[in-house]
Amino acid sequence: MICLCSLFRLTLILMHLLTLVKTKNDKGLVKLIVKPLTETFCFPPFAEKTRFQYPRDCGQIMLNGVKASGVYTIYINGNKVAPLKVSCDMDTDGGGWLVFQRRQNGGTNFFRPWADYEVGFGDPADEFWIGLAPLHALSSQARYELRVDLRDGGSTAYGYYARFHVGSNTTNYLLRLGPFLGNAGDSLMYHHGRVFSTPDKDNDGSLTNCAESYRGGWWYHNCHQSNLNGRYGDTSHSRGVNWYSWKGHSHSISFVEMKMRPLKLADLRNKRRRKHTQP
Ligand SMILES: *[C@@H]1O[C@H](CO)[C@@H](O)[C@H](O)[C@H]1NC(C)=O
Repeated sequence: MICLCSLFRLTLILMHLLTLVKTKNDKGLVKLIVKPLTETFCFPPFAEKTRFQYPRDCGQIMLNGVKASGVYTIYINGNKVAPLKVSCDMDTDGGGWLVFQRRQNGGTNFFRPWADYEVGFGDPADEFWIGLAPLHALSSQARYELRVDLRDGGSTAYGYYARFHVGSNTTNYLLRLGPFLGNAGDSLMYHHGRVFSTPDKDNDGSLTNCAESYRGGWWYHNCHQSNLNGRYGDTSHSRGVNWYSWKGHSHSISFVEMKMRPLKLADLRNKRRRKHTQP
């Protein structure tokens, strides 16, 4: 079926033609002429389709053409009856990151019981923890990488881990990480292979209750080198939002985001980059 062209569309096409003549860009031909034409005439076979109708993570949301960071709906394992609102970071290092934890103002209490850490709490547009059960489900969909972004005053730092997986409830959400890169120093590998603890569920390797002592839920080992769910703004030793190798144990970091991205997305990007940089 052929729809009527609007005057606006025709004007757009004319403008595109002019641009094309100016730039003589071959690649632009499809983008600038064919696409507006097919859109104008509503020619279904050439109309752009959403690639992933039920995106399972922010990588698929990005592949759907979304370029702005914000809160979007995903469907873990493509399960359309279980939508989940998540925060996507489309700006950092190529985008496609699903943010699963954020600290930025201390407005949300992170000193909470196991049940809360399991299902998640807070607001994905503000401070939140996505939940251990969703983290297990998300990180089991494919191979994921992890990024931790830290900001304090005027300075920023990041830590990157080439693999990220959180085990199921039967493992107490055991943390698995791949090799580290970044300029924040590595304060998480110490927690690799460790299970999660909360104040009311002490699974750590210490004689004391680390979660109770240090005011958060974490993959505590013999307590911690990082405590990103610690008490916001608390500068007493080990209790605050700490990343030891960047700011030590007595500095509570004012902005933190933890985020994950499918490794495949980075592979795609690297391939493209290699192709473009080859002589
Ligand atoms: C563990 O998680 C599964 C889903 O992954 C759920 O069906 C089960 O009830 C949970 N078990 C406990 C003890 O919470």
